[in-house]
Amino acid sequence: SSQTAADYIRSHIRTVPDWPQPGVQFRDITPLLQDPRVFRVLIDQFVHRYFDTRPDVVAGLDARGFILGSVLAYELNVGFVPIRKKGKLPFTTVEETYELEYGSATVELHTDAVKPGDRVILIDDLIATGGTMMAGKRLLEKLGATVIEGASIVDLPELGGSDKLREAGLPLFTLVDFA
Ligand code: PRP
Ligand code: ADE
Repeated sequence: SSQTAADYIRSHIRTVPDWPQPGVQFRDITPLLQDPRVFRVLIDQFVHRYFDTRPDVVAGLDARGFILGSVLAYELNVGFVPIRKKGKLPFTTVEETYELEYGSATVELHTDAVKPGDRVILIDDLIATGGTMMAGKRLLEKLGATVIEGASIVDLPELGGSDKLREAGLPLFTLVDFA
């Protein structure tokens, strides 16, 4: 059909009003994962984008970045590393605290997760204020790695996060915008 991959993906994102708190329009990606045809189209967008670039590592942001990032890393034949909410990683870590659209959070990365000079793709499901992805970029840079691009299914451009990330020198690849 003439439907683009982006439209096909967009049509499988569910909007839940007032969750997890009043005023938030939650963009739920679980329907994308549930339908194997859409899941494949989704993952193929990222595989095609990074197949020739071939990063050294894919880093995924807790929690939905794990689902996307592990499959992407597997397809690219590179390693996957998790950036987790504080208190979950058992080995020595570096950490960053940041503000969210709702609340604040601290994320951690194992100190041996990347090597100096590693070229990393950082992936999550959604960019809102950009705080989560910025914290991930900082963690990877603390260990001497370079984040070559941030990747996400959804961008919420009106929240300013994607502009902020690009201004901070992080190229972005996103598939669907929601106002
Ligand atoms: C969501 C989303 C991103 C982040 C984006 O995760 O999956 O990780 O918020 O927001 P930001 O651009 O303003 O930082 P959430 O904080 O809901 O945590 P979860 O993955 O544990 O559900
Ligand atoms: N994280 C921050 N804002 C969000 C939103 N509107 N939908 C889904 N995840 C989010």
